[in-house]
Amino acid sequence: MEQKDKNQNLMEKIVALCKRRGFVFQNSEIYGGLNGFWDLGPLGVALADNIKNQWWNSMVISRDDVVGLDSSILSHPRVWEASGHLKSFTDPLVECKICHERFRADNKKEIEEHKKTHPSTGSGQTKWTDVKHFNLMFKTFVGPIEDDGNKTYLRPETAQGIFINFENVLSSSRVKIPFGIAQIGKGFRNEITTGNFLFRVREFEMMELEFFVEPGEDSKWFDYWKKERLKWYLNLGIKKENIKLVDLPKEDIAHYSKETSEIWYNWPFGGAQGKPWFGELEGIANRGDYDLVQHSKLSGKELSYHDEESKKRFSPYVIEPSVGVGRAILAFLIDSYSEENPSASIRQAQDKSSGQGRVVLKLHPRLSPIKVAVFPLLANKLPLVKMARAIYDNLKRQLNEFVVFDDRGNIGKRYYSQDEIGTPFCITVDFQSLSDKTVTIRDRDTMKQKRVAVENLPAFFRENLSNA
Ligand code: GAP
Repeated sequence: MEQKDKNQNLMEKIVALCKRRGFVFQNSEIYGGLNGFWDLGPLGVALADNIKNQWWNSMVISRDDVVGLDSSILSHPRVWEASGHLKSFTDPLVECKICHERFRADNKKEIEEHKKTHPSTGSGQTKWTDVKHFNLMFKTFVGPIEDDGNKTYLRPETAQGIFINFENVLSSSRVKIPFGIAQIGKGFRNEITTGNFLFRVREFEMMELEFFVEPGEDSKWFDYWKKERLKWYLNLGIKKENIKLVDLPKEDIAHYSKETSEIWYNWPFGGAQGKPWFGELEGIANRGDYDLVQHSKLSGKELSYHDEESKKRFSPYVIEPSVGVGRAILAFLIDSYSEENPSASIRQAQDKSSGQGRVVLKLHPRLSPIKVAVFPLLANKLPLVKMARAIYDNLKRQLNEFVVFDDRGNIGKRYYSQDEIGTPFCITVDFQSLSDKTVTIRDRDTMKQKRVAVENLPAFFRENLSNA
């Protein structure tokens, strides 16, 4: 199979798996869908929560120099004037004069495609409007009167909510520079073109840290956060060969940024002729003092920092790692997706009708939506079902994790079904369990089984889930 077809195939399989197993659904599907909007299903919510918890733990809980915040989605419209979004958060847009389809003017690939597929006007060229600058912020009105005085915008990033609360956090907590404020929340962008599933959408959750430092210390902290963030993905199992840090050239960075690096992932789309493409998963920017100075100017409020020790007053510089939850979900799904042929002995145990191989999401156990599945070997043997139920109830209570009970179909099918959604461990209660109070624990990746005493199960999972 050609590389292009292989990659397309992989994305189709992942999108199908997400729908079939309840990770991600197209929003408003019953009405034909709404482009650029996706809903998380039961397993998608669990995966997203695990990713957000891992981020929050590493950025806030495990540190003593970062605090949290949850600001509103809507803000005073002057926030967006100060931040520069009203003027500069635009994409260049062109419109085909024949069919009125709109494209980003810098998306040469799509424009060339359109020229090929669309009938020309006789001159051999598709006709295009001049380039217009299209603001990506969604507009709305606060209160019942829809006029310019009540107009505001759905936030395109959570960062501004942090800057406008800088003084509040400073005066209400005991933070001292260097310190950070972290936030997880929704952002909205009216992207001209969406696509590649969760990669480019119009509504998405963001995980952002604004880390305030003394000017002059900024490059040191910029390097620090670049390394920390790359390590986070590697520790959660992203393969080394699929991820890299890239320093962007000056001409490619945002208006507010002094220097920007990106963590690139090896996406199975986006390259020439359908080839894989290393592209942005996360951005890490040195925003200088742009935002606090701007908000200070427009609000007339002092947003500087007074250092008690040096007696200096200065406008802090800001280092900002920022990533979309959906984009991270996509990277973790792609990276962990694998198709395997089980060994003959395992295949015997499986339902032959379920195919020759198995699909496994080799997610890091801390990210897996379901941590443990409990099965009675046979659904019609009441003592097995009763014992499995009791183990399930006990584990659920003791682990405080997502544990499921399943007695449908044969045991091979049940393993297969859990592999496909990344469940790291399956417990089977068999006839031996009734006499010696042990069960088998099957490991998702090795498919090896070992017998463990029922009384040792909570300790086993605590050890193997949290220390994984
Ligand atoms: N506050 C900085 C900021 O907003 P950004 O590079 O525009 O920077 C940060 O966005 C991250 O948000 C990106 O690295 C990406 O992970 C995610 N992101 C941005 N636009 C997105 C979109 N349309 N759909 C999905 N994720 C997006």
